[in-house]
Amino acid sequence: MSEHPSVNASPHDPQSIQRMFNAIAPTYDMLNHLLSFGLDIRWRKRAIRSLEEKRGGAILDIAAGSGDLSLEALKLSPSYLVATDFAETMLQVFQKKLRGQRHSQIVNLVACDALSLPFADESFDATMVAFGIRNFADRIKSLREMRRVLKPRGLSLILELSAPKAPFVSQLYKVYSRVMLPLLGKIISKHNNAYAYLPDSIAKFPDQHEFRRLMEEAGFAEIHIMPLTFGAATIYLGRK
Ligand SMILES: C[S@@+](CC[C@H](N)C(=O)[O-])C[C@H]1O[C@@H](n2cnc3c(N)ncnc32)[C@H](O)[C@@H]1O
Repeated sequence: MSEHPSVNASPHDPQSIQRMFNAIAPTYDMLNHLLSFGLDIRWRKRAIRSLEEKRGGAILDIAAGSGDLSLEALKLSPSYLVATDFAETMLQVFQKKLRGQRHSQIVNLVACDALSLPFADESFDATMVAFGIRNFADRIKSLREMRRVLKPRGLSLILELSAPKAPFVSQLYKVYSRVMLPLLGKIISKHNNAYAYLPDSIAKFPDQHEFRRLMEEAGFAEIHIMPLTFGAATIYLGRK
């Protein structure tokens, strides 16, 4: 699917998002770590620590991509873990990483859309999505799906990039995200605009206040919001 590298991705056009991730899958991990200075690894670790009370439970990772959040979640010794994504090339990268993993037999990869999960109500103790919900065409629908498949008292976790607000850091972030990041991303991924789309999609993502409101509308309670690294990423936790 990498034959369309110049397509303009937009959450309003899920097929363009799917094509984009299929195209950048081979360089996705490397660029993630490089462009975030390795912070993405720390953020996923922090996110999984916040699910400690669900240790041993069943976990669903939505928009799991190349699987780094799922692999971190294996530290919670889940009874089973299902990882989903609609970009099959991303899931193939994940599949390769699972080879030789000690707990790989409890992981199932499922290609599906986050807005229509093929799982029964109340199937999981925790559902989570990292750096994915920003790309979904209908966020409230995806939050409702995350909640629907949770058991009562289950937890949903959303880890998402955000734009820092503090004066000096926000200036630095603007220059970095508008100039450096698209340039490095384009050179390494060979995709014309995936990494120009990235800061754009972050800027258009709801702020913490608005996202809390969306979670409440989807039916979540006990909502916790944890800003990370001057607000460059945010963890949202909500309970069914
Ligand atoms: C930025 S990657 C994040 C991958 C992974 N969660 C991580 O922590 O690195 C976003 C992923 O969301 C997936 N995605 C976007 N929209 C989706 C949708 N509607 N349904 C399923 N997956 C989707 C993409 O295919 C991509 O793999």
